[in-house]
Amino acid sequence: MQPRRLLAVTLWIVVAAILLQAWLAGSGLFGTPELFELHGWIGSGVLLLSALAVVLSFVAREGALVTFGTVILAAGAMSQIGMGYAGRRTGLTALSALHVPLGVALLGLAVALAVLTTIRRAPATEDR
Ligand code: HEM
Repeated sequence: MQPRRLLAVTLWIVVAAILLQAWLAGSGLFGTPELFELHGWIGSGVLLLSALAVVLSFVAREGALVTFGTVILAAGAMSQIGMGYAGRRTGLTALSALHVPLGVALLGLAVALAVLTTIRRAPATEDR
């Protein structure tokens, strides 16, 4: 699979994983608190995939906008993990409160990047 296509697939998996995160958090809050452990593991997966997206956007020469976007996505995922664990382990409710809108913002960014890399035409040299 070409790096460009692999990047788009990776970003769509990140979109699906963040949606799953929102569902796990809701289920954890409203019935099954044990699900937060899985939420933490999947959070690490989101970070790994976001880091892979940074590498792929360089390899695929996606340009400054997409590359910068993937860097922000990876940095956001790292902050999200820090806030999630700190919020739960230390009871810093302000971090837990910030964790939710940051998750929503990361979903929006991941969707934008996934759409952009999916619809973007390959350079003319790749068409031949
Ligand atoms: C809209 C999406 C998300 C929502 C609504 C959400 C919600 C939550 C909530 C309510 C908690 C518990 C906080 C507390 O009890 O103080 C939590 C914990 C956590 N979240 Fe999220 N989250 C989302 C997305 C993410 C993402 C994208 C990541 C990682 C990239 C992530 C990583 C974590 C981690 C590592 C924890 C701590 C888990 C543990 O202590 O075992 N979350 N999240």
